[in-house]
Amino acid sequence: MKKLTVIVALLALAAFPVLAGEWHTGQTNLCADCHTMHNSMAHTWTGPGTVTVGTPSADGNWVKAAGPAGNFLLKADDPNALCLACHDSKPFAPDVLGTNSAGGSTNRSAGYLNDGGLAAHTGHTLGWVGTAPGGAFVTPAEGLECINCHTQHGRAGVYRNLGPRSGATVPTYALAGAQARDMTGLPTDLAGATAHATVDVFINAPGYIANTSNFAALYETANISYLKRAALVNGIENASGTQCAYCHGDFHGAINSTNIGGEVAGASFDKFNRHPVGGIVLGSLGGGHSALPSARYANAVSVSRVKVYADDQATFADATPGCISCHKAHGNGQPFGLVFANRTLPGMTEDGNVAVPTTGAGTAVAQRALCGQCHGQGN
Ligand code: HEC
Ligand code: HEC
Ligand code: HEC
Ligand code: HEC
Ligand code: HEC
Ligand code: HEC
Repeated sequence: MKKLTVIVALLALAAFPVLAGEWHTGQTNLCADCHTMHNSMAHTWTGPGTVTVGTPSADGNWVKAAGPAGNFLLKADDPNALCLACHDSKPFAPDVLGTNSAGGSTNRSAGYLNDGGLAAHTGHTLGWVGTAPGGAFVTPAEGLECINCHTQHGRAGVYRNLGPRSGATVPTYALAGAQARDMTGLPTDLAGATAHATVDVFINAPGYIANTSNFAALYETANISYLKRAALVNGIENASGTQCAYCHGDFHGAINSTNIGGEVAGASFDKFNRHPVGGIVLGSLGGGHSALPSARYANAVSVSRVKVYADDQATFADATPGCISCHKAHGNGQPFGLVFANRTLPGMTEDGNVAVPTTGAGTAVAQRALCGQCHGQGN
């Protein structure tokens, strides 16, 4: 009887996913999505019906096609294959690999990974073996895995379940409105919002309903805003940069730190040894030095702006650059996963809106548009 109660409780969760805009965590951490106890299921969790073999479903009613279960009783041979079973070309979960073949978001916030099918120079490459550039992180022998960046068992309140689990600081998020299904508009200036001091990311996803075909809004680039924490983390206002720094530590840090460098110049800084990734407001240096007129970024076509950390999402008077200003977290079709976005052109995609020649020195031409988002030089 007790077992029956447990199963009924599990079914209730499966049938009525919680409203919160997160997955694989807390009440939406459904063990049966990913683990099989016996590598065999004669009927579905609801009783009637047959389990699909080799075709994942979001309700746990599937087992892998053939052979033994993966290590840790996984429903696929290894963690990447498991995640991709649902996250590549399936209608019920975000497609994170290559072309967005199953619909969903038109401009995925994280962009897209490659696994060797695409050129490996376009961002994060699943299965890549070695040491992360600018850091000490060494991939496992199997190569780079989803679970090197995401905690497979979730982490409440953490943006996209980002890890590592041991990480002291990982990005947090809040949804617009009190209830996920009652989205109100993103306030144009978030300075007064209670969320502002503690969360790193604000998601405004109108119409989002978890775990249905209606999930795209939660992952759409236009619906994601990066805020500024009141208390700095490593001299940076947003913990998403800290998350990157667990592996690429040298590229991260405060202004005036060993990694980033910078010397005091009037009310601001100059003479950096690495591009600032926080800790400095656009236009603060002034004097035409780095040609960053404060309104330049704000005056761009709104859909063609790259991301910045800012509480003021209207005039962007407090905007700061970060890793996500220049890179898509998963990558995209461009070298180094860079977003080649021209501030005055429409037609933004995950790659930007500037066509990149695929051969020769011309491949770096489109970089100018990205720099021109903030700097006047050459633009
Ligand atoms: C059985 C299918 C399935 C498997 C297997 C699966 N996912 Fe998911 N994943 C989903 C669904 C469904 C969603 C939620 C989509 C939505 O928002 O409605 C999701 C959402 C996510 C999110 C976004 C969560 C958030 O709070 O924004 C991340 C990150 C994620 N999955 C990572 C992974 C990783 C890493 C693995 C492998 C360890 C994995 N998934 C395996 C179905 C799956
Ligand atoms: C989104 C997919 C996913 C879901 C859902 C999931 N797991 Fe896992 N689990 C994994 C992966 C992937 C590993 C293997 C990690 C590795 O290779 O190191 C794992 C490993 C484990 C392990 C081995 C120890 C460890 O933590 O690595 C245990 C125990 C476990 N899971 C229990 C659970 C339980 C209990 C639930 C439900 C509350 C659950 N899992 C839900 C993906 C998942
Ligand atoms: C778990 C460790 C880890 C984290 C966290 C991580 N990376 Fe990486 N990154 C790697 C490894 C390993 C490589 C080299 C292999 C490859 O290209 O995928 C890499 C490569 C890159 C590259 C070069 C890609 C190319 O095509 O040459 C860029 C750019 C990059 N990372 C940016 C980021 C950004 C931005 C973040 C934060 C959103 C981040 N990384 C977080 C491990 C990590
Ligand atoms: C190098 C670190 C890294 C790796 C590897 C990685 N992710 Fe992500 N992922 C991120 C970050 C960071 C974000 C949030 C980026 C943003 O919104 O700007 C993200 C976002 C997501 C999302 C939300 C979709 C979106 O476009 O925002 C899903 C789902 C997801 N990842 C699943 C996966 C799966 C499945 C894998 C493996 C197949 C994987 N990730 C590998 C870092 C990583
Ligand atoms: C101003 C734009 C900009 C910002 C901000 C930025 N990057 Fe980059 N990143 C680039 C460009 C452009 C390249 C190509 C190589 C170069 O120009 O140095 C690159 C290259 C990389 C590489 C590959 C390095 C190699 O050795 O192949 C990694 C890894 C990387 N960036 C990570 C990060 C991380 C992590 C952050 C945040 C801490 C970050 N980037 C912030 C523009 C940026
Ligand atoms: C999101 C806005 C943004 C983008 C995009 C951006 N930068 Fe910057 N850049 C800044 C800020 C802010 C500073 C530091 C303040 C200053 O120097 O005025 C800076 C500083 C610099 C400096 C150092 C100036 C000095 O005084 O030492 C150089 C050089 C530079 N950027 C080049 C680039 C290049 C090249 C690109 C394109 C790959 C780029 N930036 C993209 C905002 C940006």
